[in-house]
Amino acid sequence: MPPKKNTTQFVCTECGAEFSKWLGRCAECGTYGSLSEQEIKENAGRGISSKNAGTAIGEITPQTLSEIPTEHSKRLSTANPEFDRTLGGGMAPGSLVLIGGDPGIGKSTLVLQTLATMSAAGFKTLYVSGEESAAQVKLRAERLGAAGSEMLLLCETSLDKILTVAEKIKPQIVVIDSIQTMYSEELPGTPGSVSQLRECALKLMIFAKTSGAVTLLVGHVTKDGQIAGPRLLEHMVDTVAYFEGDKKGQYRILRTVKNRFGATDEIGVFEMTSLGLVPVSNPSRVFLQEGELSPGSAVSCTMEGSRALLFEIQALVGKTNFALPQRVSAGFEQKRLTIILALLERFANLRMGNFDVFVSVAGGLRLDDPAVDLSLALAIVSNALNIALPPRSLIIGELGLSGEIRSVSSLDLRIKEAHRLGFEKVVVPAGGKIPQVKGMQVLKFAKLEDAVNWAKS
Ligand SMILES: Nc1ncnc2c1ncn2[C@@H]1O[C@H](COP(=O)(O)OP(=O)(O)OP(=O)(O)O)[C@@H](O)[C@H]1O
Ligand SMILES: [Mg+2]
Repeated sequence: MPPKKNTTQFVCTECGAEFSKWLGRCAECGTYGSLSEQEIKENAGRGISSKNAGTAIGEITPQTLSEIPTEHSKRLSTANPEFDRTLGGGMAPGSLVLIGGDPGIGKSTLVLQTLATMSAAGFKTLYVSGEESAAQVKLRAERLGAAGSEMLLLCETSLDKILTVAEKIKPQIVVIDSIQTMYSEELPGTPGSVSQLRECALKLMIFAKTSGAVTLLVGHVTKDGQIAGPRLLEHMVDTVAYFEGDKKGQYRILRTVKNRFGATDEIGVFEMTSLGLVPVSNPSRVFLQEGELSPGSAVSCTMEGSRALLFEIQALVGKTNFALPQRVSAGFEQKRLTIILALLERFANLRMGNFDVFVSVAGGLRLDDPAVDLSLALAIVSNALNIALPPRSLIIGELGLSGEIRSVSSLDLRIKEAHRLGFEKVVVPAGGKIPQVKGMQVLKFAKLEDAVNWAKS
């Protein structure tokens, strides 16, 4: 008697690896408890509606690059400068874009607004909602002032039906809101399961590449901020952008973490208003406070993609009531904060062992540019000693473990942006080439202790 054939398999929800037996730990990616059981369907994965499917091998011919017309690569403008910037200068035809973000952060608002503006500009657009009814979408459109739009709407979750409609009406831009609600009838599993996500994303990728339509996928994120489902989704799409920012605050940042057609780490800044997401054309002003700095505040500059962004960082130092002093930071990596405190103790004689330290970056900005290290160190010194830092001065520098101030990238762009916003003084690392900007006093420091002495004076 032949052995009984398995009817189920176990799939890792993190990496999508498949196993015939359950394992406590995924043998591919090493995640614990991530395997879930799924039914195996005979023809699974063979029903891809590719234009090439069914084409005899002899009919497929490669092309030379010179034969390929270039007009396809002309980008479509969203008429929203911040969104265009995040996409690398507009939407590339045939691209598959994934937009992720926390619930309620404004993903549907952004895509609906964009489609409404683009359809008013004469583009054929299709909005597919798997989460909201037509009446609910209309309600949102009314709030956004887009109720009279020519945009086409489809409230459906069956991807096969959606693709049939899309192939018929040939839109230039398609939005799928959200990819986790879509399912393919050819596969078992509930919408949002690993196999469904993979299959749906693959079908949409083939659709985007063969039809040339820009396809935007809205994706849910997990608790730790990753797109829900296998990382595979991020590999399959051309562009991945995440919404960041405090949901309760008014500003939202759209950051590109992957882009096949543009620079990564590019950001777009938006303000959430009752009329939807409004692009912020001068974001440095948003993250800066007007007037004098109080003790504990410092201004620095971070490079976000090609853009220099000024922001205010604040530190609060207080006597601790705990056995272990608190280190709390919002918008800045906690480990780096611990290192900076150790450096201050060693090189600036600032003992923080009995003090809690809280750090916050204004406007919900998340910093990962090392060039902001020195500004945080001086903000802590300023709060601990209750001395305000000199007004209209910008602090730039990365800190090394021997207390040296290291040179940073794009110093000229940072200084120019500060000058544009009326700053008069800039603290920079002593090494490297220092650009001269008229009207800007440049202070060079090689060591942390020198910069701390300047802050104290
Ligand atoms: N009248 C209003 N005035 C100001 N802001 C509003 C108003 N109505 C809704 N919002 C904002 O829009 C947000 C909802 O945005 P949206 O539905 O686009 O989010 P989403 O990212 O698509 O969420 P989900 O993941 O749940 O689909 C709310 O959290 C709120 O901040
Ligand atoms: Mg939504």
